[in-house]
Amino acid sequence: MKDRIDAILRRPQAEYLEALLPPRDSLLAKIEAFAAEHGHPIADPEVAQLERILVRLRKPKRIVEVGTNIGYSVIVMGRELDAGSVLETIEIDRRTLDVARGFVAEARLACRIVFHEGAALEVLSGLEGSIDLAFIDCVKTEYADYLDRLLTRMSSGSVIICDNLLWKGQVAEGPRSESETRSTAALRSFNDRITSDPRLLTTVLAVGDGVGISIVR
Ligand SMILES: C[S@@+](CC[C@H](N)C(=O)[O-])C[C@H]1O[C@@H](n2cnc3c(N)ncnc32)[C@H](O)[C@@H]1O
Repeated sequence: MKDRIDAILRRPQAEYLEALLPPRDSLLAKIEAFAAEHGHPIADPEVAQLERILVRLRKPKRIVEVGTNIGYSVIVMGRELDAGSVLETIEIDRRTLDVARGFVAEARLACRIVFHEGAALEVLSGLEGSIDLAFIDCVKTEYADYLDRLLTRMSSGSVIICDNLLWKGQVAEGPRSESETRSTAALRSFNDRITSDPRLLTTVLAVGDGVGISIVR
């Protein structure tokens, strides 16, 4: 989630764009309220809208999400999938994953959902088969390693969405504290990579906390 509404955009534009977002149904509104109350870093609603559009465009048979949290994006993307599709999602924290399972059960999705409990790098290394769309939204210093693992399973036309690429404005302006230095540097280097890797066609958008969209060439 972004740090503040004008971390990326100036406030009038950001407020205007937020007003254009579609209203949330009762389940998503409940999850957003739960996240706000308990400090869970779910995707911003504008990022969720981009997820919907990209999933509907790409029509993936298999999605892998790196970083489940409480299942907000599982529901957002899962609602765009049909019964023959699968969404796999990875979360290291059991209690968080239990909350996600509860919310996802309430969503009664048509597609199959696979919850992987564990460290993302290990789970990704064990995945087999091809992946049509990936959503990277986990440990910032590991993004490059997630990408390396995912690319071995992706072919031309596959889509990779990466969240937090502007990291509360710090990637462009520099870290605000010592504790943010490694993540900020890692994301800056990751952005350089995805925008120059010849295997990818990438754009980084000032949506939410910064979102990258890459297509495998
Ligand atoms: C930003 S949240 C994901 C938000 C979610 N994608 C959404 O759209 O609502 C990142 C999640 O990654 C989990 N996480 C942190 N380190 C992890 C790791 N090494 N492996 C897997 N999950 C991890 C955190 O517990 C957290 O729930």
